[in-house]
Amino acid sequence: MPSRIHTLVVELIDVCNLNCAYCLRDEGALHGRPHALPVALLERTLRDLRSRTDRCNVVFTGGEPTLHPDFRGILRTVRDAGFRYSVITNGWTFSRSLPVFLEFRESLAAIAFSIDGATQADHDALRGRGSFERVMSAVAACREHDLRFRYKVTVDRNKAVRLAAFAALAKETGADRLELGPLFPTSSAAFDDVLSVVEQEAFLREVAFLRESDGVQISLAAGFIDRRPEPVCGPLLGEAINLDYRGRLALCTVLTGFRGQTGDRDIVADLHQTPLADGLVGIERLVDGRNQERLQAFSTADASPATVSLRLASPCLDCLCAFGKIDVAGFARVDRHAAIEDSDHFTISTAAVASGARGEGRSVRETRTGRVVDLNSTAGLLWNEIQSGRSVAEMVDALTRTFEVDEAQARRSVHGALIRLQSLALIRRDDGRERSLNVPDPTQKVNS
Ligand SMILES: C[S@@+](CC[C@H](N)C(=O)[O-])C[C@H]1O[C@@H](n2cnc3c(N)ncnc32)[C@H](O)[C@@H]1O
Ligand code: SF4
Ligand code: SF4
Repeated sequence: MPSRIHTLVVELIDVCNLNCAYCLRDEGALHGRPHALPVALLERTLRDLRSRTDRCNVVFTGGEPTLHPDFRGILRTVRDAGFRYSVITNGWTFSRSLPVFLEFRESLAAIAFSIDGATQADHDALRGRGSFERVMSAVAACREHDLRFRYKVTVDRNKAVRLAAFAALAKETGADRLELGPLFPTSSAAFDDVLSVVEQEAFLREVAFLRESDGVQISLAAGFIDRRPEPVCGPLLGEAINLDYRGRLALCTVLTGFRGQTGDRDIVADLHQTPLADGLVGIERLVDGRNQERLQAFSTADASPATVSLRLASPCLDCLCAFGKIDVAGFARVDRHAAIEDSDHFTISTAAVASGARGEGRSVRETRTGRVVDLNSTAGLLWNEIQSGRSVAEMVDALTRTFEVDEAQARRSVHGALIRLQSLALIRRDDGRERSLNVPDPTQKVNS
C-alpha cells in the first residue's frame, strides 16, 4: 500500500549564526560544535522513502540549514531522488547559498524567510542588528532570479497585533504567502508572550479578514487553537515525519531538541542503525498513542468545546506537555495575563461601529467585513462604558445600579461579556500594545 507520507522535515544542522531569544532549539546545540546530517544518510533515507511514495516535499530546517557544509550535495540528493525541497532560513548568508538554489531550482518548492517584524527595528529587536537588511537583500535576489519565496512568522502577543503590517510587507515585496505559526514557550517566563484562547480567537478572525480583503495568501501552521480532538497536523495524520541532524527519526520538528526539555520519547530510531521501515513502525505506534491520549483527554475534560483549556485547545501545546518538553505550570501565567482585573480598561476595535440606541437592541457593525453583531443589554451597556473610558470596576458598578443585581453577579456578567467581545475582535484590552490596522477611528462615527 502506498504511504501517506508526503513531507519529510529534516533538521540539517544544529548550529546557527543568529541567537533569537525565543528559539525553541536547545541553546547548547545552536552555539556549540556543529553536527550536520551526513549526505549519505539522507540519500539512503530518500531512497527508502521513494519506494513508498512518488511525491514528497523535503523541508530543511535547523539550526540554520544553509550552514550545512555540503548544502549543494544535500540539494542534489533531493533532486536525484525526484522529490522537491523547501528551506526555512534566517536569510543571513543567502548570498552564499543563492548559486546552489539556482542550480537546483527545478526541485525547489519554497524558500521561507523567518521574519519577526515588518520593520527593521521590530525584526532586528529579536533577530539581531543587520538581520532585516539581510533578509530584504535575499528577497531582492529572489525577485531578480525569479525564485519563489514566502515569509514565516512565529506569532507572539506583540506580533499578533502587527498582523496587517506583516501582510502588507508580504504584498509589497512579492512574497507568495505569509505562513503563521504560534510561539511555543521555552521557559516559564515565555508563557507571558503566548496568546490566550481569547486572544487567539480574535487573531484568527483578523487572519480570516485579511485573507478575504487583502488577497494575501496566509497559511496557518498547526498549533493555533483547534477544538477538535482529531489530529490536525502532518505528523499525527501520518503524513509527515522528521529526521534530526543526528540521523534520528522523530515524530515532529516542533518537539526535537526543544530547549529545556525533560524527555525524548518523540525519537524512535537512529537511522544509522535502523532501517526506515522499522523506524516507521515506531512512529506509527507513537502517533496512535498520542491520538488516543488526546481523544481520551477530550472525553474526560469536564468542559464544553467553548471553554476547553488553552493546553487542550492548542494541539502543539498539548503535545509539548505530553512529551515532557514544557512545564505545565507555565499555563498559570497565560491565565494571569488573560484574567480581567478591576483596574483594566478596554478600547473598541478601530473597525467596529455601533448602531441603534444605547442599551437594549444595540448592534455593532464591523466596517471591514460588514458583519453585524447584536449586543444584549449587558454588552450594550458595556459598549458605552468602554467608549467613555471606564475601568472594569466602574463597569461592574454601572451594571449593579442599572440592573439592580448584586456585585458578584454583575462582575460575572461583565467578565463574560468582555471575553466574548474580545474573542469577536470587537474590543481589546488597552495595554499599550500598538495596533497596526490602518482604519479610521470609529469612535468618531458612533451613533449615540
Ligand atoms: C528553528 S528555526 C530554523 C530555521 C532558521 N534558523 C530560521 O530561523 O528560519 C525554524 C522556525 O522555527 C521558528 N521558531 C523558533 N523558535 C520558536 C518557538 N519558540 N516557537 C515557535 N516557533 C519557533 C523560527 O521563527 C523559524 O521560523
Ligand atoms: S530561530 Fe532560527 S535563526 Fe533564530 S536562533 Fe533559532 S535557529 Fe537560529
Ligand atoms: S507538536 Fe504535536 S500537534 Fe504540533 S505539529 Fe507536532 S505532532 Fe502535531
